[in-house]
Amino acid sequence: MIDTACRIADVVFKNPIVMASGTFGFGREYARYYDLSKLGGLSGKGLTLHPKEGNSGLRVWETSSGLLNSVGLENPGIERFLAEEAPFWEPLNTVRIVNLGGHSYAEYEEGAALLEAYSLRSRVRGQAAYDLIELNISCPNVKEGGMAYGIHTETAREVVKLVRRATTLPLVVKLSPNAHDLVGMAAMCEEEGADGLSLVNTFSAMKIDIRKRRSVFQNKYAGLSGPAIKPIALRMVHEVCQAISIPVMGMGGISSAEDVIEFIMAGAETVQIGTHNFVHLRAGEELAAGLEAFMRLEGIRSLAEIRGIV
Ligand code: DOR
Repeated sequence: MIDTACRIADVVFKNPIVMASGTFGFGREYARYYDLSKLGGLSGKGLTLHPKEGNSGLRVWETSSGLLNSVGLENPGIERFLAEEAPFWEPLNTVRIVNLGGHSYAEYEEGAALLEAYSLRSRVRGQAAYDLIELNISCPNVKEGGMAYGIHTETAREVVKLVRRATTLPLVVKLSPNAHDLVGMAAMCEEEGADGLSLVNTFSAMKIDIRKRRSVFQNKYAGLSGPAIKPIALRMVHEVCQAISIPVMGMGGISSAEDVIEFIMAGAETVQIGTHNFVHLRAGEELAAGLEAFMRLEGIRSLAEIRGIV
């Protein structure tokens, strides 16, 4: 028997393969291609208290080794999510993660309170729609909120404190690779009662249209993801895991079972798969199966045997 189970607070993942926010919608479209119960978990598109239209103009730019995006937190808002998407999540046999963004301290706090209230009501009915909140303080594509809070440890502390107070749900904080002091940021989250971390979100990056002599993106910069960032993300996950004791969901350019193993050897509890979902519709299912096959081949009986071994 191969044991791929992972845990964050009291939430158990059947395997470490979690779909990253913003790359999987709320799972509906992918559910037409494979059974979502094959996944360890999924994180839905980042939600804010109020609906957002996102950025205008060009939103994605493909490079030879990764993807630039400038979506700008487009989302239907928490209330519409609760009315239209949460019922789809209720019966799913996988860990369901709500990714919470915001443009102000108050928006983060009220968003968390709304999620908490719905979660309490749904638990009373015995039908929880989500298991965990992923607090996004790392979106590089919005002018207010997002990464603006996730760069400096002290502004981030305010958001983490407010959200921690507003919810009893397990809380994972999603960190930016652009943070000035990533290890200090991670330690602060642990201090403020986060149950885990996810890292890294996209790297602030750029593409210039040389004929028009300006950035192709409305906001000038965009977020880089995909294979280009994998070695750096891996080093960041390793550094953070050495410094803190709460579990980490590692991500950045993962596209094979071998990549998953690398992040786990660096210390990650689970991983998240992002850009690879755009290239491979069945990425989640394939990685879950590939991981087991690899473990069998290498004689690894449980992920605990190799976690943080490097
Ligand atoms: O790269 C990203 N793009 N990271 C986020 O956290 C949000 C997303 C967006 O909506 O722009």
